[in-house]
Amino acid sequence: FAFTPANQAWAEAQITKFPEGRQASGVIPLLWRAQEQEGWLTRPAIEHVADMLGMAYMRVVEVASFYFMFQLQPVGSVAHIQVCGTTSCMICGAEDLISVCKEKIAGKAHELSADGKFSWEEVECLGACANAPMAQIGKDYYEDLTAARLDEIIDELGAGKVPVPGPQSGRYAAEPASGVT
Ligand code: FES
Repeated sequence: FAFTPANQAWAEAQITKFPEGRQASGVIPLLWRAQEQEGWLTRPAIEHVADMLGMAYMRVVEVASFYFMFQLQPVGSVAHIQVCGTTSCMICGAEDLISVCKEKIAGKAHELSADGKFSWEEVECLGACANAPMAQIGKDYYEDLTAARLDEIIDELGAGKVPVPGPQSGRYAAEPASGVT
């Protein structure tokens, strides 16, 4: 693995932002840049980040495996769908969304679809509980999902379209009542 010249220069600049001896503080931005470049975090990419930061490989793996934002195996070339399975979403139909993923993408989380375009996984609460159930696709949240709408979204993505993110019902939180802060 090697960063592109532009990414390498960016990474080196990041490292200089931290005090001497604290270069490990750059681990998340460097991992994120490596993932954006490669699509997922390969072992050589993690090793490269570890070397740049003077960290042990396992310490970097510990960080990368802690956050759902980091992928340690290949993801779909079009989209990786992260379905929230925590309480609010579970109560409001996360299982139905997961069934769509199993039927349309792959029977197991982290497996690629037959055409390599999609992958999926169940994740913990993504902080959009008021509009449950929801899924994160790429950097966007799709909320107030139904199984039928997720099915459509996958089809739209597969056809090269960009479905409009946000609450699929059009429902946004109400303004606070006057006098409430
Ligand atoms: Fe699903 Fe919080 S429980 S976003």
